[in-house]
Amino acid sequence: MIQAPRGTYDVLPEDADRRELLETHVRRILGAAGFRRVETPTFESTELFARGVGEATDIVQKEMYSFDDGGGRSLTLRPEGTAPVCRAYIEHGMHKLPQPVKLWYLSSFFRSEAPQRGRYRQFWQVGAEVIGASGPDADAELIVVLSELLGALGVKDVRLRLASLGSPETRNEYRGELTTYLREHEDGLSSEVRARIELNPMRAFDASDPRTQETMRGAPKLMDRLAADDAEHFAQVRVLLEDAGIPYELDTTLVRGLDYYTRTLFEFTSEALGAQSGVAGGGRYDRLIEQLGGPATPASGWAAGVERMLLAAGGLPTAPELVDLFVARAAHSDDVDRTAFELAREARRAGMAAQLELTGRSLKGQLKQAHRLGARYVAIVADRTHASLKNMESGEQHELQPQDVIPTILRGSRL
Ligand code: HAM
Repeated sequence: MIQAPRGTYDVLPEDADRRELLETHVRRILGAAGFRRVETPTFESTELFARGVGEATDIVQKEMYSFDDGGGRSLTLRPEGTAPVCRAYIEHGMHKLPQPVKLWYLSSFFRSEAPQRGRYRQFWQVGAEVIGASGPDADAELIVVLSELLGALGVKDVRLRLASLGSPETRNEYRGELTTYLREHEDGLSSEVRARIELNPMRAFDASDPRTQETMRGAPKLMDRLAADDAEHFAQVRVLLEDAGIPYELDTTLVRGLDYYTRTLFEFTSEALGAQSGVAGGGRYDRLIEQLGGPATPASGWAAGVERMLLAAGGLPTAPELVDLFVARAAHSDDVDRTAFELAREARRAGMAAQLELTGRSLKGQLKQAHRLGARYVAIVADRTHASLKNMESGEQHELQPQDVIPTILRGSRL
């Protein structure tokens, strides 16, 4: 038997209903904040992610699905959406549009990670990017909108962690200081962390090894080294979040698996998720567009995992599809079949949700099926000129001509 590949899943109709509802909230909340939807290709040049996400990241080193396109070019199934959106911004000269350009997406992404609850190899993200605005208000607005979305979806037990990374220059200097600290304390570090000191010293804060964690408690913190303008930017983000009544925790060791961040960095987690607790994350990435060959353009954004939001939202209620009319057949004959078929088609043309009996059930079975579907009315076609219409709510039923079924329902007249 052929099964879906490891780390992937099928979206069955009940799941599709919840996803559609999620999308409705996304459209409403992001639309009201001036975001417009974009969709970029499922695969891009591998180089886009190598340059954009960063050579030293786990994503680029271990998690990308890359392949040769047959012509010697390396392509990669997108592991994230920010680099592609920036690529599109540059490619379409969006810097000539009135700034900022506010974009959102709801798409699938691919990372070759060990699958577990809330972690898939193909997963979906809702993302929002504000390109061309440098102020702390853009960061705060993004967080407010994200918080509103999580609230509307009923995502439970959320915590917001906030940090600032400052500029790449500050980070470089700090990196030197941290590397020195790590070298001086090598004995207190796990071998894995030790091996990566030069490649990515920040990752030491992320280590799960208790001895390393203890050692890192005494390490210098980037947030204590911020330049004055970066510290001022961060202070204003905090004021705006406090004014908006959004609780957060400062996390001096917050690290995210992407290299493009500058200044503001944040992550929403949910206790309801267990190990894979990250529901959404984002931050400012003021250098990325220039790094990808565009004009120097400040930008900020986030992405939220669709599966994780749905998991943490528990039973996001879905409205059952309404069926206005179920067309049943009192008997089987060419006349009845054609009249019933035509009635269902006419009903849909009149704007109703209409279903036709398709399996040859008995009349009793057809009424049961109409009930299961939650149909408001059932029309029972007897022949070309005779039918009866049953109001499923009141149980009332009366005889009429098939051509009077639709006008009768539309008038909402009592039977
Ligand atoms: P990220 O933190 O890598 O950020 O991913 C964002 C969210 O995607 C995570 O919080 C999580 O909910 C979900 N996610 C990530 N990997 C998986 C997986 N394997 N299975 C299920 N869900 C997953 C980004 O991707 C950045 N592009 C966010 C951003 C936008 N920063 C600025 N703008």
